Amino acid sequence: MIVIEQAREMQRYAEALRRKGKRIVFVPTMGFLHRGHLSLMEDGKQRGDCLVTSIYVNPTQFGPAEDLDKYPRDFDTDCRLCRGVGVDAIFFPSNGEMYPEHYQTYVDLGGVTQNLCGLSRPGHFRGVATVCAKLFNLVKPHVAVFGKKDFQQLVVIRRMVADLNMDLEIVGLDTVREPDGLAMSSRNTYLKPEERESALSLSRGLKLAQEMYAAGERDAGVIIAAVSRFIAGHPHAKIDYVKICDTTTMKDAARLDGECVMALAVRVGAARLIDNSVFGEPLLV
Ligand code: PAJ
Repeated sequence: MIVIEQAREMQRYAEALRRKGKRIVFVPTMGFLHRGHLSLMEDGKQRGDCLVTSIYVNPTQFGPAEDLDKYPRDFDTDCRLCRGVGVDAIFFPSNGEMYPEHYQTYVDLGGVTQNLCGLSRPGHFRGVATVCAKLFNLVKPHVAVFGKKDFQQLVVIRRMVADLNMDLEIVGLDTVREPDGLAMSSRNTYLKPEERESALSLSRGLKLAQEMYAAGERDAGVIIAAVSRFIAGHPHAKIDYVKICDTTTMKDAARLDGECVMALAVRVGAARLIDNSVFGEPLLV
């Protein structure tokens, strides 16, 4: 496994692989890797010849009052974990390498960024789309693998790739959870032991929503009210949003008729947690 820090070197490495006819699979991350990240890498390993991951805490996707400085980092452990799942190359750039002096180009999407985290984190998806566009140009992947844990992010990336005719396939994989249901996240490290029960209100709230859906409830307002009441009943939980959206437009849905997603963002102590669950997915048989 090699570690590449320079943008130009990353491109040269990718170009050489492509000339040899190798298929490049890419898993972008911000590091502090957990089993959710590793599941993307393990899956990615099967999808091509060379597995590249990036570890980069991208400053442009953090708001001024957010946790950029506190975001957990542990490059040595990340390297060991990457080696363990067969990563071939880690792209580990500095801020100066990604956003040099005079940098001024950003990727802005429309409607799909104007709800959920786009509302509570202004500029967040501009930063995500920009860094992913840059990373795609550097790593030149045939396939990039993302987690459905960040559902809106996946929709944004798919939209950008389609709209800008980027020549790669985007794969979305299921959320990996702790045994108690908590979605794995680098930010779970912010949780204090006494906040754990409140953190579980997200996955349990989503389960409640799925039970209501299975019992025939299709009114989004009724499900949102029940889930909000449930989460708000937890002492450390402060709701940012509880919403049900159409999975293509990310606009609020009044009824759960087509394919919809319930998306939650809840502050629990110092952590802002997100989770989601999709309704009406075609059943695989
Ligand atoms: P990060 O939060 O490190 O996540 C990297 C990838 O891992 C994303 O595709 C995310 O959806 C996925 N992931 C996180 N937790 C997961 C879980 N529990 N199960 C499955 N997949 C999970 O998302 C980012 O970084 C950044 O925004 C990035 C795309 C790297 C751009 O900076």
